[in-house]
Amino acid sequence: MSEHASKLYPAPEALARAAHVPGMAAYEKLVAEAREDYEGYWSRLARELVSWKKPFTKALDQSNAPFFKWFEDGTLNVSYNCLDKNVEAGLGDKTAIIFEADDGKVTKVSYKALLDKTCQMANALKAQGVKKGDRVVIYMSMSVEGVVAMQACARIGATHSVVFGGFSAQSLRDRIEDARAVMVITADEQLRGGKQLPLKAIVDEAIGLGGCDSIKSVIVYKRTGGNIAWTAGRDQWMHELTAQQSTTCEPEWVSAEHPLFLLYTSGSTGKPKGVQHSTGGYLLMAALTTKWTFDLKPDDIFWCTADIGWVTGHTYIAYGPLALGATEIVFEGVPTYPDAGRFWKMIQDHKVSIFYTAPTAIRSLIKAAESNEAVHPKKYDLSSLRILGSVGEPINPAAWEWYHEHVGGGRCPIVDTFWQTETGGHMITPLPGATPLVPGSCTLPFPGIDAAVVDETGKDVPWGQGGILVVKKPWPSMIRTIWGDPERFKKSYYPADFQGKYYLAGDGAIRDEKTGYFTITGRIDDVLNVSGHRMGTMEIESALVSCTDLVAEAAVVGRPDETTGEAICAFVVLKRPRPTGDEAKAIAKQLRDWVGKEIGPIAKPKDIRFGDNLPKTRSGKIMRRLLRSVAKGEAVTQDTSTLENPAILDQLGQAY
Ligand code: PRX
Repeated sequence: MSEHASKLYPAPEALARAAHVPGMAAYEKLVAEAREDYEGYWSRLARELVSWKKPFTKALDQSNAPFFKWFEDGTLNVSYNCLDKNVEAGLGDKTAIIFEADDGKVTKVSYKALLDKTCQMANALKAQGVKKGDRVVIYMSMSVEGVVAMQACARIGATHSVVFGGFSAQSLRDRIEDARAVMVITADEQLRGGKQLPLKAIVDEAIGLGGCDSIKSVIVYKRTGGNIAWTAGRDQWMHELTAQQSTTCEPEWVSAEHPLFLLYTSGSTGKPKGVQHSTGGYLLMAALTTKWTFDLKPDDIFWCTADIGWVTGHTYIAYGPLALGATEIVFEGVPTYPDAGRFWKMIQDHKVSIFYTAPTAIRSLIKAAESNEAVHPKKYDLSSLRILGSVGEPINPAAWEWYHEHVGGGRCPIVDTFWQTETGGHMITPLPGATPLVPGSCTLPFPGIDAAVVDETGKDVPWGQGGILVVKKPWPSMIRTIWGDPERFKKSYYPADFQGKYYLAGDGAIRDEKTGYFTITGRIDDVLNVSGHRMGTMEIESALVSCTDLVAEAAVVGRPDETTGEAICAFVVLKRPRPTGDEAKAIAKQLRDWVGKEIGPIAKPKDIRFGDNLPKTRSGKIMRRLLRSVAKGEAVTQDTSTLENPAILDQLGQAY
């Protein structure tokens, strides 16, 4: 028996019997159906899960590959599918969203109420002149209004671009400018962990930085009533605009290929890319993966803890669960406030049955529970749970086991879902009623997803051998292009290495020798994953060198971190003599604050190391592999004979 096989966790029998995909034979059957008639398979599901205004006649158009099109001549509306359809099916009084505020206050919103709010908001957007195809930036806290703003854009055919509320004014400005957005929807402030944090002030600052002339109006949701500046003629209160609006709004029926949203994410250059998603294919995968991966049933209480600023919050808060008429939690706060038992208490209070979170959160809650019994999950009644999920980064087997035992009571399957902003929905994941689980492995491709591990030439590598993760066939919810930069889309995802035929995920993977299960081995490009957040090393480098008074040169690498998965390490050459001691500490703080201001707090380097210069080869290339060893605190075993200035290795040993 291999080590893995001894750690198999089969699907619980009762769950398997009643599951949407009941057992491995059912899984294999779906895989075979997709293999035998790929377009027929996706068409069948698209008819079952999506309501079309005008049915599509063709599933996949490959004529302009890799700009694939799905269901293009079909028309639909996402907000109709998420709201009206459920109300028409008699679910009007069913709770769509249970909102729990930072301070614990709970508000329930029914499907009918969510539809009314969305229509009022959609009418308000129209009254402000927002039209089909316009881009609307949403810079909001976790709130019902955030979901309503997204749904309202979808209703009128405007393309939203949600920017995570932790991004700085500079980052927000860059995204507004790139998208040429006509409007920003924001809140006066957000409440997180008992603190009032600015949002509107950052929008003001972003617009003040210039380049945002496309913005005609700023809509402000009053969350805290805190003091904010007001630009007459441009700024409008959301409650004032929506109050006068009708609660009906005819949906804009759009082509399945109409861009539902842009979501900016980091790549291997300094500039974030606007990942463009479609309407029909995206909605299909959002609904289908929510249904099968979480085995979602009508009585479930679903909770995805992600922020709507990330793709997980799009697919598994704003769209997937609503498309299925589910009841879901939207949580404003943080897992550690008022204490690190918050998640467990909320699961207990709301009888959550499906819980989906990130390994970083689990690891930090393990730490908290180990030092304080009172916040240990065993202190709470978590018997409502049936299925657990993990997303965003590899989950280490120790964290997996703890999650399984202490949160899931040993009875709840954990779905370790591998996917990306670009993929729109789950790609490689267990299905809870079918797939036997192995801690640390995302197991097998979602039925219909043709994932493979290949070498540099695109040839499949044998199981047991590491390689490059690709997807061989286009799938409905895939990225359509990078907004405004189709060439970059081709270069990033369909590179010439694979004759432009395979989608390159940017991750490495290995398949188990016996089971063929996938394990993701991490990014193979210059992208870091810090607490499940994607950060480009070049982005952080350009932020550092833009501090022109201080910084001459900078190189950023990742190193493993127990809690955050990876930590950001910056190697910096200053325009002044290399500092040490207190001076170095003070400058390191200054640089961290700078990066926080340029990108956002999530991009602040954990370690900053100063050198007289950076380790380079004689031809002037920064030796990043060597920097990674230094960052890890490993003895440098690489060949340093080509290193121009070996003495600096000592200097770089000290992190501030
Ligand atoms: O490296 C992989 C990692 O997160 C990257 C995608 O990040 P992002 O686009 O921000 O989307 C995160 C939420 C879907 C991937 O390229 N990743 C995501 N899920 C997993 C993962 N790595 C290992 N296991 C996962 N389950």
